[in-house]
Amino acid sequence: MVDGLALLDSVPVPLAVLEGPDLRVSLLNRCLVESFGHPWAGPATPDDWWSKAFPDPLYRRRLLESLASWAPGKEGEDRPLEARLTCGDGSEREVLIRLATLGETRLMVLEEVGAQRRAQRELEFLAFHDPLTGLPNRMLFYDRFHQALRLAKRHQRGFSVLLGDLDGFKAINDRLGHEAGDLLLKKAAGRFQAALRATDTVARIGGDEFAFLLPDTGIEGDLEAVARKILEALGEPFQLRGEPVRVGCSLGAARFPVHGDTMDLLLARADGAMYAAKSRGTNTFVHAAAGDREGPGTRPPFITFGNSALVGIPVIDAQHQHLAGLCNDLAGAIFDAQPPDQLRERLEAVSAFVRVHFALEEDLMRTFRTSDQEAHFRHHGHLLKQLAEIQARFDLQGLSATLLEVKSWLLAHIHESDQALARELLARGFPGNPESPGAPSP
Ligand SMILES: [Fe+2]
Ligand SMILES: [Fe+2]
Repeated sequence: MVDGLALLDSVPVPLAVLEGPDLRVSLLNRCLVESFGHPWAGPATPDDWWSKAFPDPLYRRRLLESLASWAPGKEGEDRPLEARLTCGDGSEREVLIRLATLGETRLMVLEEVGAQRRAQRELEFLAFHDPLTGLPNRMLFYDRFHQALRLAKRHQRGFSVLLGDLDGFKAINDRLGHEAGDLLLKKAAGRFQAALRATDTVARIGGDEFAFLLPDTGIEGDLEAVARKILEALGEPFQLRGEPVRVGCSLGAARFPVHGDTMDLLLARADGAMYAAKSRGTNTFVHAAAGDREGPGTRPPFITFGNSALVGIPVIDAQHQHLAGLCNDLAGAIFDAQPPDQLRERLEAVSAFVRVHFALEEDLMRTFRTSDQEAHFRHHGHLLKQLAEIQARFDLQGLSATLLEVKSWLLAHIHESDQALARELLARGFPGNPESPGAPSP
């Protein structure tokens, strides 16, 4: 009969054997001692190991609690815990801890997180977080939304989604400059996070647009309490360039399952409610009404295309308006819960027209040799990439996500790139519309 502990001691993988609910260490194997240079380790004093490998008492307590309550995923999937371990020489290393349980005994296996994995994790972080505020970005938000929906359906629990944008942000950005505007966004993001529960998600999904995902807020009163906290978070003025600055927020909310049972319906209804909140004045919260299940005509257009979005070149303006119209048609179809085939057809119409429009602008840029072509092409490419990613991830579950992407992209892109392009084209003699704001003054 093989001696089990002697065998584990000789395994060339860092591992420990833990006993009972308090995770008493009964074996630290040779490989673990050598890998992390713990000179105190050995059969005589293995229990010291916790306090030396994890010297911060609060950190250690949380880790031990996580390890004690650890269980494999429902489908038995591997769910390693990450930890920061202090080595014998005082240096710190990141490790992944995996557990196997056999009654009261646990086998703990450690794996050091290598430089390659750390770099990969940083890349993953960047792909799913907003670099300015560190909040989850649009993609991560949709992903969490998807998960929340799945869990809420499985456990028959309610949750809410809120969409909000800052009132008065643009004026502050224009008056105090981009740097102050960025600082304001960072500070607002921090206040939102501080106002929310650990289980909530706040994401930055556009320039000054934020989205909130609030689990277990199936009751209207619970949702309102959180919405109030979000608005109150902006109550105190922000200090920017030495002066107090105030911004408000317009919030629109939709609840699962009252206002819809898909990501698209819920986002469409939260967006409609946000639009209503905006029209009622600053710092307002509007809850999608049960009446939001009514037919078309009762809801505002998804994209409103005002005069300020005109560039002054009739063919470009007409295409922008047509694109906004196609998006509004798709938003209406989602809102009215039309069959998947019709939704797919409308989505394809949006994507196809985006390409037609980009081709026209890019041809004009080449023909008239305008400046900043590369940056402009990159902006176009960015939208196409985002749209492709959303579609690949969610298929028809991501229609509202696609629309929100096009909406915030289109209006920002017109102001940041297309208006400059139009000015150059007009200056080079391209015929413009004399009544449009983009046309040069006589
Ligand atoms: Fe463009
Ligand atoms: Fe454009």
